[in-house]
Amino acid sequence: MLKVKDLDVYYGVIHAVKGISFNVPEGKIVTLIGANGAGKSSTLKAIAGLVKSKGNIKFLGHDIRGKQAHKISNMGISLVPEGRHVFVNLTILENLRMGGFNKKHSELEPLYEKAFELFPILKERANQKAGTLSGGEQQMLALARALMSEPSLLMLDEPSLGLAPKIVAEVFDIVKMLNSKGMTVLLVEQNAAQALKIAHYAYVLENGAITLEDEAKALLNNEQVRKSYLGEM
Ligand SMILES: Nc1ncnc2c1ncn2[C@@H]1O[C@H](COP(=O)(O)OP(=O)(O)OP(=O)(O)O)[C@@H](O)[C@H]1O
Ligand SMILES: [Mg+2]
Repeated sequence: MLKVKDLDVYYGVIHAVKGISFNVPEGKIVTLIGANGAGKSSTLKAIAGLVKSKGNIKFLGHDIRGKQAHKISNMGISLVPEGRHVFVNLTILENLRMGGFNKKHSELEPLYEKAFELFPILKERANQKAGTLSGGEQQMLALARALMSEPSLLMLDEPSLGLAPKIVAEVFDIVKMLNSKGMTVLLVEQNAAQALKIAHYAYVLENGAITLEDEAKALLNNEQVRKSYLGEM
């Protein structure tokens, strides 16, 4: 579904992503794991059209590299950004409305219903300002907002960041459930243990380069990964 080849991202003289190549097959959860500054967010931003990049990015056979972000979004790629970035001064409903920017008015109601079914907490608070939600609830809202455009590829940038273990488990359960209903997912995480548990395939990103790739289950048992990313001695 998504084919990234020889992707480079530069910020001035900083070479943040160094010619990486990876694939996200339809129906799968693929994860990119890596430490702070490895280039994970830069990779997702490049795919979403939010930063300039070099190389080749193909989505459903179309070359999308260099296209404008809203066009890429319209083609079916949705990004839940790191740090969630919900609109704190807008209500939950208004936040969802923003996510459905490409939808006609008549299409919105069933999409709200779907979002509320998936995240009942958001229904109770529909008219409350998003800034009053807890971190975990804001992550749910960011996820619900990303789903409003009915993407075929959902990209998640560190959804577990700053959340308590119980909430992290809830977020990952929802991602797994969405995938079981057919959603293709590209998941970026520092929380390698959780990410490898739900992913089918994984890539390890270090200093902007992919140093390891394998079935997620195999990487969970890989000694190097266990030492560097799973906190084992
Ligand atoms: N806007 C920017 N301007 C300059 N340098 C940047 C910019 N954004 C990121 N970088 C640099 O690019 C490199 C990769 O950053 P990136 O945010 O992609 O890493 P990351 O893997 O997402 O890290 P984290 O886990 O901390 O979110 C880092 O060295 C970072 O300092
Ligand atoms: Mg990041």
